[in-house]
Amino acid sequence: MQRSQQTETNKLSIEVSDSRNIPGTTKSEVISCIFSLNEEVGALAKALRLFEDKGINLMHIESRPSRMNKDQYEFFISVDPTYSQALDEVIDGLRTQISGHVHELSRNKQKDTVPWFPNDIQDLDRFANQILSYGSELDADHPGFTDPVYRARRKEFADIAYNYRHGQVIPRVDYTAEEKATWGVVFKELKTLYPTHACREHNRVFPLLEKYCGYRQDNVPQLEDVSRFLQSCTGFRLRPVAGLLSSRDFLAGLAFRVFHSTQYIRHSSKPTYTPEPDICHELLGHVPLFADPSFAQFSQEIGLASLGAPDEYIEKLATVYWFTVEFGLCKQGSEVKAYGAGLLSSFGELQYCLTEKPKVLPFDPEKTSLQKYPITEYQPVYFVADSFEDAKEKVRKFAATIPKPFTVRYNPYTQSIEVLDNTAQLRNLADSIGSEMGKLCEALRKLA
Ligand SMILES: [Fe+2]
Repeated sequence: MQRSQQTETNKLSIEVSDSRNIPGTTKSEVISCIFSLNEEVGALAKALRLFEDKGINLMHIESRPSRMNKDQYEFFISVDPTYSQALDEVIDGLRTQISGHVHELSRNKQKDTVPWFPNDIQDLDRFANQILSYGSELDADHPGFTDPVYRARRKEFADIAYNYRHGQVIPRVDYTAEEKATWGVVFKELKTLYPTHACREHNRVFPLLEKYCGYRQDNVPQLEDVSRFLQSCTGFRLRPVAGLLSSRDFLAGLAFRVFHSTQYIRHSSKPTYTPEPDICHELLGHVPLFADPSFAQFSQEIGLASLGAPDEYIEKLATVYWFTVEFGLCKQGSEVKAYGAGLLSSFGELQYCLTEKPKVLPFDPEKTSLQKYPITEYQPVYFVADSFEDAKEKVRKFAATIPKPFTVRYNPYTQSIEVLDNTAQLRNLADSIGSEMGKLCEALRKLA
């Protein structure tokens, strides 16, 4: 298996997050790092002294055993962005004084280097170790913050995802009666709105999910069943995620038609509200659309565009993702319907988005990617696409403006990314297109 720039022997790995807040990604204006230390007395104290020496105040720190190396522990820390420069010096210190092997996953000091990206679908396993906060951590204003039973449950879900590896069956979960009741409230309410508010693709797929995947008011569907269904429709698959991923990692999954999905459910005290994506959001909002071939291609296009893109373009692509996959509207005949998962999983916003109240602009990645947005209230602005095909073409053109020294293509047979930067690769692509063109011409002749 090709492993590009990373090696398994890194003793210290560091990731610095950007500050987008798309579901599944980091959400605050902080710089976060993950580093690994060998398990020995005083190792952490030595590392922390480097932070102290530079006057860096840690906002957050947590540890866990490393999954990659049983002799190591991983530490996740967050610092205020004003310490960015001092953090560079600490990272140097960690490199030179504590570990000889350093790897930075997304922070590029040299502008001309291409950020690491996964080449093979199995490379996505790395992301499990790169989450920016564990799923059992809740903010003080989270409805489940003071509920120890809920917090323990969240840790169970996070552990499933943390230990999951590509190719494994996603562990089934016995949802409790309370969890099923919460799902039931959300399911029942939203289902009444879909016929009038959801796009036709969503409405076409939803009955299939009821038929084949156990979508019922009294049953929380299993990720494994849903993932298998999606694979049979478009090749998209789900993989459980233990916490927040960086935008770069989250978008990279889409390049492989992999969607990182939560498995836990929102707190039962507020069934119609969740401050973060949960299984209701994923299964009711995202999944139906990933079963549609055009939408699947569109989503993958955003993912492919993100591979190796500079940080500022990752932010732009995350914004495009926000206004399409999460909060997109599309024209259907003379009407406008919702296709964004954030809308299709919110009873209130699904109604609001099709009223006169919000501003609606045509989808144009150049402009959409610069639009600011709130994350805790209904969107004041939505973007409407003419069709998924049209949106895909626009994203493709936008992607061509991203400064990268190569073009990438996904090979579905090997489930890997081909970097089209040499004549041999281009010849393979030309052969493949030639073969497909031959089939198209033959089929057209037979139809004539
Ligand atoms: Fe989402």
